[in-house]
Formats: sequence, C-alpha cells, structure tokens
Amino acid sequence: MPKTIIVSNRLPVKVIKEDGNLILKGSEGGLATGLGSIYKEGNNLWIGWPGLLINQGIERINITERLKKENMHPIFLTQDEIKNYYEGFSNETLWPIFHYFSQYSEYNETYWEYYVKVNQKFCDEVENFIEPGDTLWIHDYQLLLMPEMLRKKFPELSIGFFLHIPFPSYEMFRLLPWRRELLNGMLGSDLVGFHTYDDMRHFLSSVSRLAGFGYTAGQVNMPDRKVIVDAFPMGIDYQKYADAAASPETIEREARYRTSLGDQQLILSIDRLDYSKGIPQRLMSFEKFLHEYPEFKEKVSLVMLVVPSRDRVTRYQELKEEVDLLVGRINGQFGRINWTPIHYFYRSLPLEALSGFYRMAHVALVTPMRDGMNLVCKEFIASKLDKKGVLILSEMCGASKELSEAILINPNDINAMVQALHRALTMPEEEQIAHIEVMQKSLKRYNIHHWVSMFMKRLEEIKTSQKSLATKYLDQPTIDVVKKKLKKAKKRLFFLDYDGTLMPFSDTPEKAVPDKELLQLLEALAADKKNQIVIISGRDRKSLEGWLGHLNLDFIGEHGVWLKERGSNWRTLTKLSGKWKNEIRSVLELYVNRTPGSFIEEKDYSLVWHHRKVETGLGELRTRELSSHLKYLSSNMNLQVLEGDMVVEIKSARVNKGRAAHQWIEDFPSDFIMAIGDDWTDEDTFKAMPEDSWTIKVGSSSSAAKYNLNSPAEVKDFLSKLC
Ligand code: UDP
Ligand code: G6P
Repeated sequence: MPKTIIVSNRLPVKVIKEDGNLILKGSEGGLATGLGSIYKEGNNLWIGWPGLLINQGIERINITERLKKENMHPIFLTQDEIKNYYEGFSNETLWPIFHYFSQYSEYNETYWEYYVKVNQKFCDEVENFIEPGDTLWIHDYQLLLMPEMLRKKFPELSIGFFLHIPFPSYEMFRLLPWRRELLNGMLGSDLVGFHTYDDMRHFLSSVSRLAGFGYTAGQVNMPDRKVIVDAFPMGIDYQKYADAAASPETIEREARYRTSLGDQQLILSIDRLDYSKGIPQRLMSFEKFLHEYPEFKEKVSLVMLVVPSRDRVTRYQELKEEVDLLVGRINGQFGRINWTPIHYFYRSLPLEALSGFYRMAHVALVTPMRDGMNLVCKEFIASKLDKKGVLILSEMCGASKELSEAILINPNDINAMVQALHRALTMPEEEQIAHIEVMQKSLKRYNIHHWVSMFMKRLEEIKTSQKSLATKYLDQPTIDVVKKKLKKAKKRLFFLDYDGTLMPFSDTPEKAVPDKELLQLLEALAADKKNQIVIISGRDRKSLEGWLGHLNLDFIGEHGVWLKERGSNWRTLTKLSGKWKNEIRSVLELYVNRTPGSFIEEKDYSLVWHHRKVETGLGELRTRELSSHLKYLSSNMNLQVLEGDMVVEIKSARVNKGRAAHQWIEDFPSDFIMAIGDDWTDEDTFKAMPEDSWTIKVGSSSSAAKYNLNSPAEVKDFLSKLC
C-alpha cells in the first residue's frame, strides 16, 4: 500500500541520555507536537534527527530498532553537521531572516556548504524507503533544498512541502546570498504550503522577482510543470488537549499548584526560549502593569514557563541572560515574603503539567514578535473546559488571523500590553465565556486532522491534474489515425494559432511575416471544401488581414476580440470598451523608459509590452515587476494580464480565445475538430474543444492538449501530411 513519508529535521521524539541510558522523550516545538498523532497510521513513516550526538555504532543500531517499532527512522548528524547545518545555517542564518531579525543573521559559506550536504544526506537516506506511489511530505526551513534534490531523481514523485515559520517579505528574503538556490529548492515540490495568506504572498513575490518564474492565482509556472502554493493554517489535536484537561492527573496537579500559589489571578506564558517570542517585552509590560496598577500587587502572578532551546547558539545564550536579569529585577523590586510576582521555570514539562497550567491560568499572555502560527495559544483555548479565561495574543502570530476574539496586541507597544492586561484581568465572566466559545468552535473544526486532510487532498488533486495535463508526442502511428478520421469526416474545423505555432518568433512582431512555404500550405489546406481553417491569434486585425487576408481563411484576432468569417466583415463577440487603455498605457510607458529595447504595441482592445530585444535578464526582471504592478492596478478593472513569449499583454477579462472558438464550434458544426497552439492563451482554446477533438500543443510543458509537437517546423510538416 502506498505510504506517506514525513521528513523533518527533528523527529517527534528525541533521544536523551540519563544515567548512561538512552531514553526517548517527546520533542517540543509546534511541528513535533502538531503532527505527532499522524505518522502512526498504517505503514506511514517519519524520518528525521533524534536530536543527540550519537557516534557509537551499537547505540545507533539500538535507537534505530526502537524507533522502527514506532514508525520512525533516525538520521544521525555528526558534531560538525550539528554545528554548521543545524545551529549554523538553519538557526543562525535562516531563522533570524525569516523572523525579521536580519541583524542577527550570519552569512557563512561553511554553514551553507553543510546545509547543502545535510539536505543531500537526508535525500540519500529517504531514497531507501521510497516505493512507487508514495507521497513525501517535507517540513520546515531546515530542509528547503530537499524537494528539488528529490525531484531530480524522482520526476514523478508526489512531493509536498510545508513551512512552519513565517515566509518573510521579499525585502528580507533577498538579503540571503543563497536566495535563488533556496527558492529553487522549494519549487521542486508539487505543493508548497504556508500557515497564512501573507506568507504565501511573500513567497510568490520572491519567486517572481528572484527566481524569475511568473505565477497566476497561486500557481507558479515553471517551464516543465506548475507548482501550487497555498495557505493551510495549522490546527491542534483539539481532543487531545480537551481530554488532557479533563483527566484526573491534570486535575490533581492543578489542585496541588493552587495550594502552593494561593488564590491569586494567574497570567501564563509558555514558549521556547527564543528571541522571536517577545519574552523581554512581555516582562517589561508586566513590570509596567504593576507600576501603573499597584492595586494588583499580591493579587496577580505571572507563571512563565520557558523551554530551553538551541542553547549553544550565542543569541539564545544572550537572551537567557537578559531574561534571567529581568525576572530577577522585577521579583526583587516587587516581591514580598508571601508573594512572588513571577514564577519562572526554565525546563520542559509533560503534557499533564502543561494542561494543569492551562486550566489554572486566568490569562494567557502570548507575545511573539513573529511566529509562523503559535500553537500554545490554541492549546490554552482547548483546555478551557469551563470556558473561563482570556487570551492576549500578538498580531504577529499566524494564529491571530483565526483567533480574532482574543485581545490582539502589538508586542512593541508596551502601553497597549499594559492596558490589555488590565482589561483581561477585569473582564466579566460572561464576556470571557462568549469569546472562548467562539474560538473553541473554530479550533474544534479546524483541528490538526482537518489540516492534514486538506493538505493531502490538495496534493492528490494536483497529481491527478498533472496526469491529465501530460501530453503525448504526436508520433507517426497517431498521425495515421488522424488521417483516417480526417478522410471520413464531412466537415472539418481547424483552429491554428499563428506565432510560435505556424511561424517561429522573431525579434520584432512585424518580422514574423508568413513565408512562401506557409502561404502555400494554408492555401492547400483551405482548397479542400470540407476544411474550414480558423487562424486564432493574439495579432491585431491589420496584420492578419495584411498577411493572410487574400487566402480562404477565417480569423479570430486579438485573443478573441475580433472575429471574421470568410467573405464577411470583422465583428466583435461582445461590446467592449477601450477606455482603460489610457491609464494602463502610461504605466507601460514608464517601463519602456526604464527598459531600453522594449516597446508598446497597441491593439483595438488590448495593449502589449514587448521585451524580445531587451538585454537578457533585464527583460525577465521587468516582466516580473510589470506583471505584479499591473495585476495590482487592474484588480478592479475587469482586465487580465497575460504573460506570453517575451510579452506582457493586458486585455479585457471578458474575452479569450476559448470563448471565441466555442462560438465557431456552435456556428459551424463539424465532425472533425483540431486545435494547435503554443502558449498560455491557447490553453483556453484547448479547454473549449469537445472531448473527441484533436488538440496539439507546440512545446513540451504540461497542457490541456492531448498531444504535442516540438516546433513550428514540425507543425508545418504535420499539416502538409494532411493536405
Ligand atoms: N511544549 C512542550 N513542552 C513544554 C512546553 C511546550 O511540548 O514544556 C509544546 C507546546 O505544547 C506546543 C509547542 O511546544 O505544542 C510549542 O509550539 P508553538 O507553535 O507555540 O511554538 P514553536 O516552539 O513551534 O516556535
Ligand atoms: C519551531 C520550528 C521547528 C522546530 C521547533 C523546535 O517549531 O518550526 O522546525 O523543530 O521550533 O526547534 P528545534 O531547533 O529544537 O528543533
């Protein structure tokens, strides 16, 4: 049975050494706790690092055996790999940049070399487990290069990638010297998932501006395939936290903690010791709160659980010192014999203990400066069985997009946090219940199982659609069948695109004049009374008429704006307006001024910016800028922006080649229909064709067409065989 292989840097369990014995313990962090319940199903497998330096062969074998029983497989890292790949590139280069702490980021060539090496090491190990039909699900920033590495070896493999941390804006991401390699690495996937729409937007913008691939509606158009990019906000195992909160162990713990703490109101915070979590800001706001609202002294305490994390990385060590100092200062300043303002624990705790804290807390104070999602705030809500409690949540967490019933704060605004604390601690119970109820409802529905199933279903759909978009080369046996069918048919309709299909591209559009050979071919095709030949092109009426008007042909011009049957006049399918052109033309002129060699072509109902003669690289770069500029400008103008071969074209969204071709098929019923085209605009034609038509794409990329040919020369050769 095909299986799903999850790959992440860290396994959901880590190996630790206690009294010389190796023990397995749950890992902390959103990724491990979030996916913890999934990999155990069927013959699925989770591959990753067990989190400890283990050099001895016998210990490695022992751990591998133990993990195997739980559907896991370890990848062991050496001391150098831990230092340069894990602590180094992952956590001193990528983590700070992706969390907008660029001032902390180290750009170190050795780190990068190890990052590439360890990504390759993961691939080599994973390969041993891949069987036909399997799905790979790769997780997080430590393994950005893996999808591309695997794609090269397994072109058909179904690969999903999910990033658990924020994807930064282009301005941040571009600071990385290896930005292109990293993007290309991710683009080896079929589906790239993020927590929020903003992350997805930032990724697409970087792909477009740095990797040079265009995108439409969340699909990156790579030369050989499409990569789907989407937002899948991660949920929690709701039932697990609700059940834990109801368990006798948790209730017993809560009672014990309560006896020690007295009847104060409790504010809770739980996170890994990380500068992205806003721990100093949280402490400062609590300090200010005690100054501004002295009546709360001895009545409220902050319980702060900080989980040790990445403690060999300098920034984390510095943060530890800063937090220790702040806690000491506040407790020293306000503490009484019978009251400790901050209860500070620097360790990780088992689920029952966390659950006891969640139950007991009146307020959860979650203040990250940046966080991909943040699961702690969701776990707090799920643990509130009596629905009493208040969540204060930073706007900078992915979770804030879903939990709008929380008191949302900006963690840089200490005053706002002080006010939020006051509001939370004085909120009437009915109001607390009303807010928690709404959030619980949403978290119950969008739980971790929902998240996994959404992602997996999407990946499956993509694979199915890729299969349906695979084209087959139009070989001689197929051509023989075409000829047979053609012979039998009484009425035949041909839709032939012009540029890139009948004629190769040249540096200016006017130079692509039909040669003698093509004119003869079209004349011969049209000479057969049973044949009706429609030239379906993005060209304007004048060029089509001038070059081919003397032949017995039909025309669809300007991508479906203008239609002309043999012997009749040009007409339009719908009433169109060209008023928008003035506004858009001035933008295009701006780009012409900035891009030597580019120029504007004006058609009746569309504008085209050409960059065929622009210096290599610059044209592509400007295309990216112009496309996003125009998409933004035209969002409410009912226009569409098409990227063709060396052109960007803007036209009314109400017309396309498909609509026009459909009209022809209705008006001229035929028992043999063929469409040939080469670019994105021809996909609309292919899609409009009845099931039994012959659709042929020029080029090798995936297409709605059934067959493909390689070049205009091959198209002409094929058509001449049909004459
Ligand atoms: N956590 C844990 N043990 C602890 C403290 C926290 O397992 O002692 C878990 C917590 O329940 C949560 C995860 O660690 O599921 C933290 O995830 P979050 O998304 O909030 O932050 P991340 O660590 O991923 O940045
Ligand atoms: C975050 C990251 C995870 C990581 C976890 C713990 O949740 O997104 O990829 O595993 O932090 O960090 P660590 O460095 O201990 O694995």
